[in-house]
Order: sequence, then C-alpha cells, then structure tokens
Amino acid sequence: MTESDIAIEALDLVKRFGDFTAVDGVSFVVPRGTVLGLLGPNGAGKTTTVRMMTTLTTPTSGTARVAGYDVTTHPDEVRRNMGLTGQAATVDEILTGRENLAMIGGLYGIGRKALAARSDELLEQFSLSDAADKPVKDYSGGMRRRLDLATSLLAAPPVLFLDEPTTGLDPRSRTELWDVLRDLVNDGTTLLLTTQYLEEADQLADDIVVVDHGRIIEHGTALELKERAGAASLVLTVSNAEDLEAAAQVLRRSGHEVFVEPNARRVTMTANGLGDLTSAAGWLDETGIAIDDLGLARPSLDDVFLSLTGRRTEPDETEQEASL
Ligand SMILES: Nc1ncnc2c1ncn2[C@@H]1O[C@H](COP(=O)(O)OP(=O)(O)O)[C@@H](O)[C@H]1O
Ligand SMILES: [Mg+2]
Repeated sequence: MTESDIAIEALDLVKRFGDFTAVDGVSFVVPRGTVLGLLGPNGAGKTTTVRMMTTLTTPTSGTARVAGYDVTTHPDEVRRNMGLTGQAATVDEILTGRENLAMIGGLYGIGRKALAARSDELLEQFSLSDAADKPVKDYSGGMRRRLDLATSLLAAPPVLFLDEPTTGLDPRSRTELWDVLRDLVNDGTTLLLTTQYLEEADQLADDIVVVDHGRIIEHGTALELKERAGAASLVLTVSNAEDLEAAAQVLRRSGHEVFVEPNARRVTMTANGLGDLTSAAGWLDETGIAIDDLGLARPSLDDVFLSLTGRRTEPDETEQEASL
C-alpha cells in the first residue's frame, strides 16, 4: 500500500485528561474507499479518538493523518478533506432541512447556485425532498440523522467520520442509513465509524478495531474476529424437553464438551465442522429422539466481544446523548 492509498492513519494516539488516559496508544490505517469500524462500549475512547482525528482536540502524543495531512500541523487541510457527524445531532430545530443545509453551506463558503443544486441532490439522496421545507422539530430521529449526515457531505469530502451514526434509531431507520452509507462508500468515500452495535460493524465495516479502556484489544475483519473467538458450535433443539438429557448423552459420544440449556430445549457443543454434524445426525436418528432443529452456528460478534472483554455490549442511549 502506497501513501496515497491511505485515507486515514492513526499512529500511537494518546489522549490524557489530567491523570486519566482516555486513549492509550491507538494505531490503525484505513485504505481509501474502505470502511473502518471502531467498536467498543461506552467510555472506551471512541469519541475522543474521533475528536483527535478531526482536529477538535489535540493529541497528548502520537499523530494522525487524514487524506495525507497531519492533524496537528495541517488542521485546515484536514478539515477541508473531511466531514464529521457527531454523536449528538447538530442541526437547528427551528430551521427547515433546506435552511440547515443553506446555513452550513454558507459556512463552507459554497456559492449560492452550487449550494442550491447540491442541497437538492443531498435531500433527494437522503429521502428528505418531501420534508425539505418543514422545520426540523417535526422530523423523526432517523430524518434528523440523515439531515445531519447530509450537512456533513455538503462539501463532498473524500473522508467521512461518523460517531455512532445510528445510536437511538429504530431498526428500520438504521437499515435505511446503512444503505445510504453503502452507497457513499461505493462512490469512493472513505468511512470511519464508531459504534457500539456489533451488527453495524458486521454489516458495514471492511475492518474492525475493537477498543476498550482506550486500547485496541482486537483488529481484523468481522470473519477473522469471529474465527478467533473460537470454534463453531453445533446447536440441537429437541422437540420435547424430557429428551434433553438423552440428547446430551448422545452428543457426548463425540468427546466434545456439551452444554444443556433447559429453557430453550437446546443442547450445544463445540464442533469442528460438518463431520460432527453428520455423526450427530446419525446418532440422533438411531435413538429416535424427536428434534426441531440441528445445525452449526458460527460465533457472533457478540460472542467475540464477550470473549475479549468478559462482558456484552449494551448501548446506553441516555448516556449517549450526554457524552458529547
Ligand atoms: N473532556 C474530558 N475530560 C475528562 N474526561 C473525559 C473527557 N472526554 C472524555 N472523557 C473520558 O474519557 C473516556 C472516553 O470517553 P469517550 O471518548 O467519550 O468514549 P466513548 O466515545 O467510547 O464512549 C471516558 O471515561 C470519558 O469519561
Ligand atoms: Mg462516544
């Protein structure tokens, strides 16, 4: 990878607040036209990392480059090449969608004609044309996020930072926003997004950096992270709860560890692959135990997170709003 293929680069970024180290030596590289997901629980240091990379706060040590420009020595060039959508919506409630775009566009110094054309294009792209002349206070959460994103794209920046873009959105607005983001990336935008949602990282990110307590604890593609989290499991659901123990006995013939989950009428065991599945199916058939379902399951990113941090992520929406 040559210099010019790299859109975003963090090199040993550190941010201390007094004695407290919020970001503790974070490094990564984001190739042009790809998506990096910065995944971690509340307080992991995601927003602080994004703030350093977008010139909103200076690193205590370390460096970052955006579109080839150093955030500390060339902040103006960095700002000209990036867009940012923060955790809390920044759109003005009283203004209409179109007026919000006009206001931000004015700040960027975009000419009137170009601004009108660009606003129409963005309103269309984000399905806000019909609502363009209504005040933002009448917008749904999903519409506000889309408008917020639209304003950060006014200047068509090649690099886009999104801090928890879909936190607080309902599932439908979330998948709609994912589609918009995919389109942007297909058109060549480089994206760095932070998220507490494992599924979001799974859906959008080419590469995932997992952070906790200011440090990177894992880095890879969604598939790599899942593979590292451990073997696949064989999952068996029996039809009748009274067959659970018998089913567990049958699976123990494999020599693998077997877990019984009575409430779900489920037995799981670690499995190496299809061989384990076919032998289990054969044994169950012999014993005549009635089953509802039998299959192999890969660990989910939730399992990955659990195995890395010892806890599940639980996005806390109320704390979210307060943290920026
Ligand atoms: N300006 C600040 N002063 C002191 N502590 C801060 C400041 N900003 C963030 N922190 C702390 O740094 C840690 C990381 O915060 P943040 O980057 O917002 O995490 P995340 O975005 O992953 O939830 C948290 O413990 C937070 O309380
Ligand atoms: Mg944050």
